Amino acid sequence: MSDALSQAYDVLNQARVNFEGRAVGTIASNDPNASADNYAECFVRDFAPASFVFLLDGDFEIVRNFIELVLTLRDQQVEEEGHQMLPRVMPASFRVSGRDGGGQQVHADFGDRAIGRVAPVDSMMWWLVILSAYRRVSGDDALVRRPEVQHGIRMIMDICLRDHFEVFPTLLVPDASFMIDRRMGVYGHPLEIQALFCAALSIGHKLLAADDPGCRAVREQVASRLQILVKYVRRFYWMDPERLNKIRRYPTEVFGQDSKNQLNINPASIPEWAVEWLPDEAGYLVGNLGPERMDFRFFSLGNLISMMFGLADNNQVKGIMRLFETRWENLIGTMPVKICYPAMEGQEWRLLTGSDQKNTPWSYHNGGNWPALLWPFVAAALGAGHEDLAQRSYELAVNRLPGDRWPEYYDGRTGRFIGRRANDFQTWSAASLILARKFLDDPDAVQRLGLRGID
Ligand code: GLC
Repeated sequence: MSDALSQAYDVLNQARVNFEGRAVGTIASNDPNASADNYAECFVRDFAPASFVFLLDGDFEIVRNFIELVLTLRDQQVEEEGHQMLPRVMPASFRVSGRDGGGQQVHADFGDRAIGRVAPVDSMMWWLVILSAYRRVSGDDALVRRPEVQHGIRMIMDICLRDHFEVFPTLLVPDASFMIDRRMGVYGHPLEIQALFCAALSIGHKLLAADDPGCRAVREQVASRLQILVKYVRRFYWMDPERLNKIRRYPTEVFGQDSKNQLNINPASIPEWAVEWLPDEAGYLVGNLGPERMDFRFFSLGNLISMMFGLADNNQVKGIMRLFETRWENLIGTMPVKICYPAMEGQEWRLLTGSDQKNTPWSYHNGGNWPALLWPFVAAALGAGHEDLAQRSYELAVNRLPGDRWPEYYDGRTGRFIGRRANDFQTWSAASLILARKFLDDPDAVQRLGLRGID
């Protein structure tokens, strides 16, 4: 094993968290000077790449313990005064207090302790993706069939399928309810949530017991929502030069079923950069879509998950890959992968982030480069037949991460600088590099984990 990879394993293994003598997860960062206290917690989304590494290494125990523990944490959620609680979502993270072996306790954070007090909508979906990968790799069907696990899956489907004043098949969520967990103007119907929603529905359909008559109606509903969701996202989120041409000439204020511009998108809202930026033959799924609102920014994780789970069709996959190839400097630069492009600056930044000092232009969520996004990039690139790009991105990361002490993120238009307030020894930066190496060595591993196509 190369020196960089063995260092990555050290970072990952030192992050293990124990509860009552059993490994149950990994902390987000092992940096004693981390910028916030909760980096010492185990985040559900951060554990995803770590769990895939453990599974591929045959270390099933820690993943099973994590799945079981997170399921029990839903009971810790307290009802806010004056609210009628939804079926419970899963926490963003949990922390174990006390000494191993003697009276330990687990405390979950449902956004009630988080800096921005936001509900982590993506957690329950990542939990399902981890559960599905666990079942596929370990073959432990018995865990999935256990009544409490079936109940958990049912609850997640219930929350997702419930009507919330909506007329779209997509999910409506607050700003900052996913990987980007600070205000970034991403409220509404962000692509990342829709892509995870698609994955969650397809996994829910697969894992809910087909022979249980109580599940039949839910499974049918899940299947039809999935179909409508996929059709809607492919059609309305897709952006390529041809579509842009149409939107530039859209009529507005047209009433009725057959309107060409059903969401009443105003051509004047197309940002200047978008017109010249999009190369021929390339395209992407836009960041967000709602009434009179199309967020033209490119969000990498949403696009990559859409490619992996078949939300993007084959032509769209090709178009997105071509965009990465032709806009490599913007989207990969010197450290894979840019979280979103372009950054918000000036008045837009002030209004939409609330003058967030961490999300300044080309830093952190606002256009920073995140090593944690290497693994979905490599998985998606391999799936699209672009081993060359997967390999190129890996080289960039492996040559810098160990020397830079595994930073959480990088700053600057091309990611040249270590993030101003980035932690060192960020667990998912290390796990992502290991996973990328594993995928390059054995591309079938992506499939084995269930990270390709809708089942
Ligand atoms: C930051 C990231 C979030 C991540 C957490 C722990 O809050 O925005 O996505 O889960 O750090 O690493």
